[in-house]
Amino acid sequence: MNYHKKSVRDIDVSGKKVFLRCDFNVPLDDNGQITDDIRIRGALPTIRYLLEQGAAIILCSHLGRPKGKVVPKLSLKPVAQALEEFLNIKVPMAEDINGPIAQMMANGIRPGQVMLLENIRFRPEEEANDPDFAKSLAALADIYVNDAFGTAHRAHASTAGIADYLPAVCGFLIEKEITTMGKAMENPEHPFVAILGGSKVSEKLKLIEKLLVEHCDTVLVLGAMSYTFRKALGGSIGNSLCEDSMVEEMGQLMERAKDMGCNLLLPVDNVVADKFDNDADIKVVPAGQIPDGYMGMDIGPATAEIYSRIIESARTVVWNGPAGVFEMPNFAHGTQAIATAVAKVKGVSIIGGGDSAAAIDSMGFSRHVTHISTGGGASLEFLQGMELPGIACLDDAE
Ligand code: 3PG
Repeated sequence: MNYHKKSVRDIDVSGKKVFLRCDFNVPLDDNGQITDDIRIRGALPTIRYLLEQGAAIILCSHLGRPKGKVVPKLSLKPVAQALEEFLNIKVPMAEDINGPIAQMMANGIRPGQVMLLENIRFRPEEEANDPDFAKSLAALADIYVNDAFGTAHRAHASTAGIADYLPAVCGFLIEKEITTMGKAMENPEHPFVAILGGSKVSEKLKLIEKLLVEHCDTVLVLGAMSYTFRKALGGSIGNSLCEDSMVEEMGQLMERAKDMGCNLLLPVDNVVADKFDNDADIKVVPAGQIPDGYMGMDIGPATAEIYSRIIESARTVVWNGPAGVFEMPNFAHGTQAIATAVAKVKGVSIIGGGDSAAAIDSMGFSRHVTHISTGGGASLEFLQGMELPGIACLDDAE
């Protein structure tokens, strides 16, 4: 995929109306309060730059998955409020998205002003990438800027379709995401260590294959997906999560890794529990010897030590997926140990969004890593080398 795309720096935005697609898909608590604003903060450099350059901004984002219907608790109102606080200016909202009110507001905004469209996924045409809808969004502005890295793997009207009708460039967040992650994958300094966890090995298979081809030195497997590998080696995994349909393929993958000179390591011990509960009966057992009635919930202390040593001596680290059920304190030690080791890496450390990003952020290590991606699914697809429609649609750099 071609990542050499024009950015906001490459065009004159002064006096122009800019349609800026962001990913403000932030978690909200039951009272509608934003519980993690990293994605809003991630969009601020582009917003501030455009305002300083004398542009007027029509902001657009989705929130959650309302499936084309108006779902009041998925309104972007809390985001508008947060933006007002960050930017110290009014952020009025157009609830009709591309209707007469939005058009009137977009006509009326002046350089240095901002408006926000209501949740774009309240309209079914968004996910259908409806060309007329995309055209009507484009009609609100002179220039399209995509800075929604977290949604760049979706070909929707506001993330891809709109680029057919306007000059289309990326913002600083997308630029940073593709530059940092692209460099780490294309030209990594060695030793290059990938840490892969999470529940489903089927979702990570392509990434593991890509890492083998990219000459990754070591892949450290952890999290629930390690039990599928362990089963392939004939170990007992008790009631642990396992993708039975993948067991045979994992056996072949381990052989392939060996042939390609990549160390694909599995945990040597596990913290196991008799139920999915922080207060369950808990033991530490050798990996592959999980008793019946118990399930793997975390890597054990011996694995944490071995993995930490390997991670700390790496020059490039990519981490995607937690080591265990880190939301429960008794099973968070493995993820904490991995986060601590990643924070000590002297070279490049990339956190591939989602749960591992939340883990490193909640442990206060964000400042000690090179890059925390704002995209979960998008960063996974990017690291796998897949084409992201929200980036492919942008104008090529000269
Ligand atoms: C995300 O949270 O990963 C992005 O905002 C994309 O959301 P989606 O998976 O609902 O498209």
